Amino acid sequence: MKKMLIAGNWKMNTTPKEAKVLAQKILYGLESLGKTHSKVLLCPPYTNLFAVKEVINNSEIELGGQNCFYELQGAYTGEISPLMLLELGCSYVIIGHSERRTYFVETDDVINKKVSSAVVAGLKVILCIGETLEQRKNNDTFAILEYQLNQDLHLLEIKDIKNVIIAYEPVWAIGTGISASVEQIAEAHDWIREFFRNKYGEIANEMIILYGGSLSDNNCFEILNIKNVNGGLIGGASLDPTKFLNIIKTAEDLLSQ
Ligand code: 13P
Repeated sequence: MKKMLIAGNWKMNTTPKEAKVLAQKILYGLESLGKTHSKVLLCPPYTNLFAVKEVINNSEIELGGQNCFYELQGAYTGEISPLMLLELGCSYVIIGHSERRTYFVETDDVINKKVSSAVVAGLKVILCIGETLEQRKNNDTFAILEYQLNQDLHLLEIKDIKNVIIAYEPVWAIGTGISASVEQIAEAHDWIREFFRNKYGEIANEMIILYGGSLSDNNCFEILNIKNVNGGLIGGASLDPTKFLNIIKTAEDLLSQ
């Protein structure tokens, strides 16, 4: 059976109280679905991790951070370490999101250190990669993806690749309401799978490759149905429990086909 991960990236949304309510709605909705074959992951802001963990504690919903630093402790005011995420019950962390690359000037060098440190600490990393609109127009998409993958996974030991998930998130599709087309997504995901096959061999077949960028309940059927798409990293629609649950239901329907 195809692997499927439906992950909500709440970004800088929800207070702890709001996060609890949202997590509860998602949990109740999921319980009414019964046993699911897809994995569900919630990535609230750091300040809400504890509150959300309390809600999802005895469920199959997993918890993730939206970022973390590469050092495990020390004088790094304002930063969060992989160990802190682990102790709060996180099993995943998102690294290299385009909003962090753009607004917080995270370089591939920093992302590389973060990926390897988080994986060594025991987290599964969702590494985000993707091209800007200008890069796509200049036919640089695959050169950019290749550059990012080579740079961002440089320090990672081959044995640890099983703990890395790739999220293909074309920058121009994030938060715009315009997702990449089925053809564009299929082409990028095929390319990413092939990149890993060439570099790491057959383990590439087991890797989870997510799509992110204006994925919602109105376009998830055709996107999740693409061969090399193993789920989604969802921003806006993950804040709406009805839409998020509809996406999970669609994933379930596709898995049971
Ligand atoms: P949207 O789903 O809001 O486009 O955000 C996608 C994203 O950035 C997920 O990480």
